[in-house]
Amino acid sequence: MEKKKTSFGTSIGFELAAAGSAVGLGNLWGFPYKTSANGGAAYLFMYLACILLVGAAAMLAEFIIGRRARANPVTAYKEISKNCGWFGLAVVVIPALIMCYYFVLGGYTVKYSLNSFAGNAGMFQRFAGNAGDVILHTAVFALLALAIVVAGVRGGIEKTSKILMPTMLVILVVIISFSLLLGEGVSEGLAFYLRPDFSAMSWSGALSAMGQAFFSLSLGCGAMICYGSYSGKKVNLFRSTAVICVLDSLLTFMVGLAIFPALFHYAAVSGVSTAELGMGGMGLMFITLPMVFEDMSVVGSTLSLLFFAMAAIAALTSVISILEVVTQFVIQKFRIFRTRAALLVTGICVALSVPVGLSFGAAMNGGSLMALFGRNLLEVLDMITNTILMPVCALFACLAVGWIIGPREAVKAISPERDGKAHRLLGLMLKVVTPLLIIVIEIFGIFDLIMPLDNGVRRFSADGCGIVVCAYGILLVCAVVYFAFLKNSDTGNNSDELQVDALEAERVKAGPSRGWYRPE
Ligand code: PHE
Repeated sequence: MEKKKTSFGTSIGFELAAAGSAVGLGNLWGFPYKTSANGGAAYLFMYLACILLVGAAAMLAEFIIGRRARANPVTAYKEISKNCGWFGLAVVVIPALIMCYYFVLGGYTVKYSLNSFAGNAGMFQRFAGNAGDVILHTAVFALLALAIVVAGVRGGIEKTSKILMPTMLVILVVIISFSLLLGEGVSEGLAFYLRPDFSAMSWSGALSAMGQAFFSLSLGCGAMICYGSYSGKKVNLFRSTAVICVLDSLLTFMVGLAIFPALFHYAAVSGVSTAELGMGGMGLMFITLPMVFEDMSVVGSTLSLLFFAMAAIAALTSVISILEVVTQFVIQKFRIFRTRAALLVTGICVALSVPVGLSFGAAMNGGSLMALFGRNLLEVLDMITNTILMPVCALFACLAVGWIIGPREAVKAISPERDGKAHRLLGLMLKVVTPLLIIVIEIFGIFDLIMPLDNGVRRFSADGCGIVVCAYGILLVCAVVYFAFLKNSDTGNNSDELQVDALEAERVKAGPSRGWYRPE
């Protein structure tokens, strides 16, 4: 068996893994519907500008934090300053929370791809309300992620990313080709997507583009710190950041090319107006697109299979990055073997994702089950992580690198041969520009929760307030736990994993297991 290593073997392997984390369900459903609401290509321009202004620098900051320490996020933040370690704990807790709903959504993509030839139109409510089926598919999806993470960074994550990312690109090209050949409605779809309507641009559109760019790059949840810690010494993180941002933007752009012509074609032949199609939110992916596919008989079933298989791949390459963050911490802090750590983490998150899936399913059928703050659990978790906690943690990553480590030191840590202007530009971005923009995202996100628009008027919402308090409460708990239990204890690093591996190998040689392993 190939020896497991706690680092990526090649630059391209690292870049594809990080791009795999970035390209996820957010690109497939979030981007198209936000584009349609905000002036087509005009939104695309804003999105690309945000990737450049907010995303790239924040991603580089997270890579720097990981690479410098070659350790899990808690140790990595501790190395910046002992009092900062609790942010590391927060970025281990956030991915665990994300997993609890990403597993569920991944399960949906598995179900939809397997069911493509039987027809997915009208299936959403039925499937969402079928507890057994939801749990089964959630578990299947989680097991796939588990298998990859158990195989290790190089043998699992890197290898699968190297296969799955190009596969995804090929599938997308095939879908685009089909989509462009549909005939009626295609040119209208392309015009809608590619001709910028600057009059539809607004402040809220710009903010939504910022949030989208941010979520899409998987920032503020430890994924890039963790992957950065596994990047080999030879990896040029400046170049890699550029490659990952370009790949993510390219795939996002291509998703639009695949979806809009198909939607407009359906509208043209079915006589339903595009306004009535329901391009908003998750409905676009799980309700509208299946309807579009079903209308094209066998070609449609094939397209459906391709599309949902691609969605499943996108979700899988994203979820392994967050499963790895938590697994890495558990291995290094508790000195337990990778298989056990990954099993433990996956098991707990799957168990927690059951109520999330049921609550979401009930809501989609008009009911309410285990609802919190007037929303289903999936929505609540999404808001806590995506809207509130991830920007805070990414902000802190930028500030820590910009103000505490210092841009000159940071650049030296990742590429000693680089000096001159690189650190000045990075300093300006990390100290001022990116933090200010992230603060705007955070404040707007919170404002929208506390004072949501209700029939065109902003009204105070106690439920929204509850979500904000809950999110900041989680940060507070992380701080308390950190200062009580982790600040002065050893939280391990990547080379400890090799030690744990060596001990495990000895144990296998010696005979049957006698429990968890803790090297002294
Ligand atoms: N980037 C992923 C997407 O666009 C979402 C994600 C966020 C995945 C954070 C992992 C961590 O869907």
